[in-house]
Formats: sequence, C-alpha cells, structure tokens
Amino acid sequence: MSFSSEQPKKRIFSGIQPTGNLHIGNYLGAIKNWISLQQDSETIYSIVDLHALTLDSNLETLNESVYEVTAAIIASGIDPQKSIIFNQSSVKEHSELCWVFNCVAKMGWLNRMTQFKEKAGKKRENASVGLYNYPILMAADILLYRATHVPVGDDQKQHLELSRDIAQKFNLDFKKPDFLKAPEPLIQKNFARIMSLKDGLKKMSKSDPSDLSRINLNDTKDQIINKIKKAKTDPLPLPDNETELKKRPEAENLLGIYSSLSEQNLEKTISEFNGKNFSEFKLKLADLIVDKISPISNEINKIQKDKNFIDDVLQKGADKANIIASKKIKEIKKIIGF
Ligand code: TYM
Repeated sequence: MSFSSEQPKKRIFSGIQPTGNLHIGNYLGAIKNWISLQQDSETIYSIVDLHALTLDSNLETLNESVYEVTAAIIASGIDPQKSIIFNQSSVKEHSELCWVFNCVAKMGWLNRMTQFKEKAGKKRENASVGLYNYPILMAADILLYRATHVPVGDDQKQHLELSRDIAQKFNLDFKKPDFLKAPEPLIQKNFARIMSLKDGLKKMSKSDPSDLSRINLNDTKDQIINKIKKAKTDPLPLPDNETELKKRPEAENLLGIYSSLSEQNLEKTISEFNGKNFSEFKLKLADLIVDKISPISNEINKIQKDKNFIDDVLQKGADKANIIASKKIKEIKKIIGF
C-alpha cells in the first residue's frame, strides 16, 4: 500500500506497548489480525512508547524493549514495505492532540475505565496521572490518522468506545460534524482474550510476575513444552460440548489457543479431544505451539541483532506518519482557533 496524507477508504491503526516480550495473547488477539489487514488496507502500527511511560516498572528497559517489540512484530509478519511501523514518541502530534482531548473528555468517562482500576489496584493514589489518562492518548493516536478501523484484543474495547465518545464530543464542541471520525473496533469474534496459563480467569499479560503464566513469542521449544506441562487444569477429561467447556475456564482457554493457532473452530477442536485427558491434549498443544512459534522466535533473534535495520524501519515509518499527523494537527488547530 502506498500512503498519502489524503484519506483512504480503509485505514487501520493499532498500537502495542514496548514492555518486554510479546506473548501469544498479543499474537492471537491482535497481531494475527494486523497481518491479514496489510493485504487490502493502509496499515499503521505504532510502538507506543509514550504509553509505556505510564508504569515505573517499564522505564529501565524501555529502549531495549522498543527493539524487541519492533523485531517481534516484523518477525510475526508485519512487513515494513506494506505498513507504517513507527515509534509513538517520534511523532510529537500524539502528545499535542492528547492535551486537546484532555480538555474534551470528562472525568466521569475516565472513572469508568476498568483497565485503570486493574492496573492501579489498591495503590490508586500512587498511580501516575499518565496511567489514568492512558485512554485519552489512545484516542489521540487513532483520531490523528482518521483511522477507520482499529484491530485490538477484547481488553481494549472500552478504550475504543472512549475514543468514539471523544471524537463525537470534539465535533459537537467545535461545531464540526463528521470532522473526527469515530473508529470501528476490529475485535475477533473468537479467542480475542487469551487467558493466563496459571489462572483461566485472568488475562495473559506481560506484566504478570510469573513467566509460567504466558508463552512468549521468543520462548524456546523446551520452555514452551515446560509451560504447557505446568499449565493449570482441572481433574476431569475434556468435555464433548461448549456449554460444559464454558464452566471450565482453564480447559476453555487451552482449547481456544489450540483452535486459534490451528485456524479451526472450537467445535472441531472439542470433537478432536472430547473424553481425552489433559496430559494427552497438552502434548498435542505443545507440539502445535512449538510448530507455529519457533519460526517467529528464530526470526526475532535474527532481526533483533540488526539494530541498524530496526532504526531504519522506525525512522522511515516516523517520516511517513509525520506527514499525515502534521497535516491533521494543523486542521485541528485551525478549528479550535489557535
Ligand atoms: P498492549 O501492548 O497491552 O497489547 C497489544 C495488543 O495485544 C492485545 N492483547 C491481547 N489480546 C488477547 N488476549 C490477551 N491476553 C491480550 N493481551 C494483549 C491488546 O488488546 C492489544 O490489541 N492500549 C494498547 C496499545 C495502544 C493502542 C493505541 C491500540 C496504544 N494506542 C491505539 C489501538 C489503538 C495496549 O494496551 O496494548
């Protein structure tokens, strides 16, 4: 796809935080979708380093994580020739528009955000203002490019609804109907929330202190086999229908990962394994994950060593993103009256 500052029919924007290794939750929930969208749309993918500033725990490794995550998305299939790949901090308009939206969005809207509540936990008073504000910066990311569609995992749904509210209120406040375009979320119908291997009710996450809770895209074969072996299960054999499966979160998650990686529906996976013990299923699941993830993992290691290549991809991406973003911010400032 070639890019211009004019608006195409379908423009995709999504972001990913540079906070350590990517895991199969990121891959199955978002990146897999990003890859297929490259075929017929303008695709813009950002390594959202400004968002990563919201948690102290990310600061020390930020620079290295940018290389890691850029390598990982390229290794997974995001092609720098087809997609814009850039670092959020290299396009200053994201921060600029974020301030404008700070003055458009309402406190009450942010107070409803469940991700802030989860991340801040009991130490709410100690959480950074940036963590609270996080979804407003997301709205700026998306609306700056007039993205029509935003492919994300299920956990980002509420943030996208907020982006839509901000777009509508900006248009209303400044009497410019249709100026900002409310983006459509693209969330896969199935397997859009991959859960922790240690707790089927908790989302698989980079910030989980236990590495055994997730399969990282750069895990070795032995690590994958070990993690699947140790994954939490229940004592029963696998069920023969979805209603029963729904009552068993760990089984549902593992069968979901199997289905998503093998590109088959849950029904088919259930019929393949019904009545079998977890030990037998886990061997098959580990084999499948190794099969799908090892080529990506090898490629990540190769790309990550070539920092000049990654710098070049990010620079070229930033140059292209800048053209679109600077034009948009000029229009916005004019509308506001700056
Ligand atoms: P981040 O870095 O947490 O996650 C990147 C993408 O991976 C998806 N994801 C999951 N999907 C399924 N199961 C899981 N366990 C899982 N964990 C993560 C996320 O939904 C996401 O799509 N706020 C965003 C980054 C962002 C963004 C944006 C996204 C910043 N600006 C603008 C879209 C548009 C985030 O937390 O990414």
